[in-house]
Amino acid sequence: MAKVAVFGYGTVGSGIVEVIKTNQELIAQRAGEEVDIKYILDLRDFPGDPYENLVVHDVEVILNDPEISVIAEAMGGINPAFTFTKRALESGKSVCTSNKELVEAKGAELLGVAKENGANYLFEASVGGGIPILRPLVTCLTADHIDAVTGILNGTTNYILTKMAEDGADFDTVLREAQNMGYAERNPEADIEGHDAGRKIAIMASLITGKNVPYEKIYTEGITKITPRDFTYAKRMGLVIRLLAMYRERKGKFFAYVAPAMIGKKNPLYAVSDVFNGILVHGNMLGEAMFYGAGAGKLPTASAVAGDVVDCVRAHGQLLPGGWSTEVLDLSEHTFREKKFFIRVPAEDADAAEKVFEGSQRIDAGFADEVGLLTQAMDEVAFEEKAKQVPTMIARIRVEN
Ligand code: HSE
Repeated sequence: MAKVAVFGYGTVGSGIVEVIKTNQELIAQRAGEEVDIKYILDLRDFPGDPYENLVVHDVEVILNDPEISVIAEAMGGINPAFTFTKRALESGKSVCTSNKELVEAKGAELLGVAKENGANYLFEASVGGGIPILRPLVTCLTADHIDAVTGILNGTTNYILTKMAEDGADFDTVLREAQNMGYAERNPEADIEGHDAGRKIAIMASLITGKNVPYEKIYTEGITKITPRDFTYAKRMGLVIRLLAMYRERKGKFFAYVAPAMIGKKNPLYAVSDVFNGILVHGNMLGEAMFYGAGAGKLPTASAVAGDVVDCVRAHGQLLPGGWSTEVLDLSEHTFREKKFFIRVPAEDADAAEKVFEGSQRIDAGFADEVGLLTQAMDEVAFEEKAKQVPTMIARIRVEN
């Protein structure tokens, strides 16, 4: 029997316990032996909880117990999760996690420690919630050169953008809903400012390139500047607004960005709404494949962590593929891809803006005080040059069809 400890008994941690207990028989068949939870580490007590007797407050109890072979870490944040994970790996215990903050910041180091000690460090749940995406990248698409990833990687913002567009809901109200449903981070700034999506695309880019991609190096815009009027224009053009995370490689150069974009019906990501995530992967032989599913929430995320636990148990100490080095990937400015931009300008500046953005299409959404313009395709540098000549521009959103 494999004995597991769960670090953190919050939304995801309690979900991991629920998944392992609910599917115990199936899991035993697939893992080749029974898998049971011996400890739950948390600072709090949980009187009345069916597993309250498993709760311990001292990590040493777990780290010093030779019976524990796998740990499911769902504490979130860098510390003390980093120290606990490192010590667990050093003692040969495998660790599975949903903690994207830790994987992004310390993944290379922890993967190194795992390897040195014959343990595995797995983090399927850190990207795309319940969607299997990292394992397919490292175990299925091994004969392909992956040169592009475009993803809706944050459930909270996708939920907010969907509800604002479809129900005219107010930003703060929908954000509270997303928090109540367990989608949002404890500090939802990471969601709405795009950092969570940035961490996830950084993890994917690191796995694809084998080098470390710090998310701070990725150009990131969140959704806080999107207003109800933007949705009105988008609807008028038959487009939806989504927070996209992108990774591209072209001619040996790499770039990544996170930003809201307007997308049309031909883009498979158009249909990805609510808390769902969608990830389009492009390979030089594969062409395109899309991964779609529940991107956040207790059980989907827990399902991915528990799947990693099963993999660790059946690996019997064998090292599983996937990882990257500490060498930092050189990210270029995202200048080579041309795209259209949607801009809003005050009505009195519309003619002047049209002269600057020659050939753009006027979008009338019925507002007397402003107009929208859909520009010709251009790269970011050309756009920024022109934007400087329209200082009263109210808003600009990329259009990714
Ligand atoms: N806050 C994250 C999201 C949780 O909304 O996508 C899943 O990583």
